Amino acid sequence: MIIRNARLRGRDGLHSIRLEGALIAAIDAQPTLQASAAGELDAAGNLVIPPFIEPHIHLDATLTAGEPAWNMSGTLFEGIERWGERKAMVTHEDTKTRAKKTIDMLVDHGIQHVRTHVDVTDPTLAALKAMVEVREETRHLIDMQIVAFPQEGIESFTNGRALMEQAVELGADVVGGIPHFENTRDQGVSSIKFLMDLAERTGCLVDVHCDETDDPQSRFLEVLAEEARVRGMGARVTASHTTAMGSYDNAYCSKLFRLLKMSGINFISCPTESIHLQGRFDTYPKRRGLTRVAELDRAGLNVCFAQDSIVDPWYPLGNGNIMRILEAGLHICHMLGYEDLQRCLDLITDNSARTLNLGARYGLEVGRPANLLILSAPDDYEMVRSQGHALVSIRAGEVLMRRTPAQIERA
Ligand code: FE2
Repeated sequence: MIIRNARLRGRDGLHSIRLEGALIAAIDAQPTLQASAAGELDAAGNLVIPPFIEPHIHLDATLTAGEPAWNMSGTLFEGIERWGERKAMVTHEDTKTRAKKTIDMLVDHGIQHVRTHVDVTDPTLAALKAMVEVREETRHLIDMQIVAFPQEGIESFTNGRALMEQAVELGADVVGGIPHFENTRDQGVSSIKFLMDLAERTGCLVDVHCDETDDPQSRFLEVLAEEARVRGMGARVTASHTTAMGSYDNAYCSKLFRLLKMSGINFISCPTESIHLQGRFDTYPKRRGLTRVAELDRAGLNVCFAQDSIVDPWYPLGNGNIMRILEAGLHICHMLGYEDLQRCLDLITDNSARTLNLGARYGLEVGRPANLLILSAPDDYEMVRSQGHALVSIRAGEVLMRRTPAQIERA
């Protein structure tokens, strides 16, 4: 397969890309626009990029909003209550069906890599077992990393440690945590030591729901970063949310950032979910409830955006379109400056790939997997401004999804 008239990020001019089997065989500069022959794809001067990535979602909870009852207040706490009711109705097949429907939504928007958290605070580990099957059954569509996520705590939940270990034995790729939700500060700290030990012993990656609160006293990020620094594991460790950082004072943050840089850990922000769930104890002024995305980025730390939820008790909207999250995040994080707009797709592609440790399994380079997208715009800025889409998604050298842009007829 050949894709002609492709514009590539970070390179001038037009290029043609030749795919052989499941790999990228050649990328050649084109002096001018070329006519494409039958069977070839014409990017028409638009961007061709590696696939979009969804680095933080909960596929075991998606598509459950309103079952049996809607979250009327829209708060995190009512979300937990509503999920408690829905959780009682969850079956193996129900989890698989909803996860697969959601994966189709992701695929329709050009996503080919996903990291999903799965609740393991369940003595039967039912959702985890279902998701391990989904990971196998959807390999032709998407690469999935499963996080063993202790929704109700590791130390605060009965047999929490054993359930985490069993989840890794059953096939979880990533060790999770929720230190700010543990009953005490000491338990939060010991949960991080436990999960880092588990990851180090088993070779798993780490992705912790860390300080997902507006409480400026929630300071587990420093514990996670220090554990990562001492063990030399920073590149394999991710702190998700860290919304309390939006409430830390600047004096503490200046010390914290020194440690974060030494640790080299990754960050994920879920801007739509956080602005919806945080700030709920404020009247006015009302906090945005997000981590310091622009400041992390300016400091050279790796940060990316994610959806977190699609139509579940915590967040009623979402359709799988990560461009929607990017646009909202750029607004909320004060990142609509010219330079940020020129490279904003990093936040849903290359930065996310680094977070997921995809290495040579990702990227537009000869010899790498023939997984790529043809977009509807020629650069990052125009892609956001026009609310563009992935028009073609190619996986292992085959077309996986094709989207026809809306036609407008003027009178
Ligand atoms: Fe989450």
